[in-house]
Amino acid sequence: MPRLGRTLISFAMALLALQTLPLQAEPRTSSIEECAACHGLDGIARDSEVPHLAGQNERYLYNQMMAFRAGKRAHKEMRYMARSMSVAEIAALSAYYAALPPR
Ligand code: HEC
Repeated sequence: MPRLGRTLISFAMALLALQTLPLQAEPRTSSIEECAACHGLDGIARDSEVPHLAGQNERYLYNQMMAFRAGKRAHKEMRYMARSMSVAEIAALSAYYAALPPR
């Protein structure tokens, strides 16, 4: 089945391309896309009521997400988002946004 073979090869090449991106700690793309709806794919929010995440301190981002998760920082959407993530994902997302160029 040559067509399937070609599809598999381009899939494998896409995976390879993803792995050579400079951002090593990239979390699963689904969560980045979820965040992007509000915070932008580049970490720059389009809505004036949403904070930019790009270039923010990694530790700060991590602490805020853990606080949302624990309900210590109150915000309905962010609590929901933070609770659906593992601690490892929160750490990876913090590294991802901290590595993006700030506005
Ligand atoms: C529905 C819109 C929405 C989505 C989706 C969303 N956020 Fe947020 N986020 C916000 C808003 C609004 C705030 C500001 C909360 C406040 O006022 O305390 C915020 C705050 C934050 C903060 C704290 C920033 C700061 O400067 O203190 C972090 C970190 C964060 N979000 C990360 C994420 C991540 C990671 C995701 C994806 C898993 C995500 N957010 C998804 C709307 C959203």
